[in-house]
Amino acid sequence: MSAPAPATPSPPYLLKTPRLLLRCMQPEDAVRRKEAVDSSGEHLEGFFPSTPEGRMPLEAHAAHVRKLRGWFDLDQDRGYGVFEPQTGRLLGEVSLLKRAGIGALEVGYWLRRDATGQGFATEMASAVVKVAFELDKVKRMDLLCDPENVRSAAVARRLGFTFEGRLRDRQLAPHHTRGDLLCFTLLDTEYPSSPSSKLPLEASDFVGRPLTWGPSGGTKAREPA
Ligand SMILES: CC(C)(COP(=O)(O)OP(=O)(O)OC[C@H]1O[C@@H](n2cnc3c(N)ncnc32)[C@H](O)[C@@H]1OP(=O)(O)O)[C@@H](O)C(=O)NCCC(=O)NCCS
Repeated sequence: MSAPAPATPSPPYLLKTPRLLLRCMQPEDAVRRKEAVDSSGEHLEGFFPSTPEGRMPLEAHAAHVRKLRGWFDLDQDRGYGVFEPQTGRLLGEVSLLKRAGIGALEVGYWLRRDATGQGFATEMASAVVKVAFELDKVKRMDLLCDPENVRSAAVARRLGFTFEGRLRDRQLAPHHTRGDLLCFTLLDTEYPSSPSSKLPLEASDFVGRPLTWGPSGGTKAREPA
């Protein structure tokens, strides 16, 4: 049996792409998350289903933000809030999920309705794919989506992922509907020629130290001068 991969030495808590800021969630983000979901209407109904009592209350968003922070700090799933740098508005979330197994991570994401159609999902997914290959040193990235979700499948294709097949009768989380899933993957041998490898990306660790991206793809924290 192969040994489990070592924990990521210095997970990036903050990432800056050309247009977006990605960071570990903070308590006040619960209010931003509710506003993003509420203003998105049916666009996010599959992700945040309404209940007979109405839309997801602030308490439920706060509970989920606490979980995202907890998992992040414990080196489990890393869910980033994605923000508009100029305004601090929450545009969506992107996650690196461990359920893909040893030596692999899965990317998941959502965008608020009025942030779609501008390439933001592609950019934020690209950022975490870069982190996964260059820092976590994964051998494979997975991207799974509902067969009807053509926009998500388009993100996978834009990022150079290969369609592997249709997985039958899956349910990966309690809040997901049971059904078939399309499976896309990107291997470490394919990453260097993928768009993510070319994405300009700044990263800093838990204590705010910049993480430098080495020529061989390695990353280390740089002590402030
Ligand atoms: C899936 C989801 C994130 C995709 O969002 P999206 O806006 O289609 O994807 P992007 O942000 O990458 O934008 C791509 C579009 O912007 C355009 N675009 C503009 N500038 C661009 C740029 N710089 N780079 C890439 N695309 C750009 C593309 O041409 C494309 O346009 P098209 O839709 O007319 O073909 C979004 O539909 C969503 O949040 N859905 C609900 C949640 C969900 O399903 N999550 C995924 C679960 S697997």
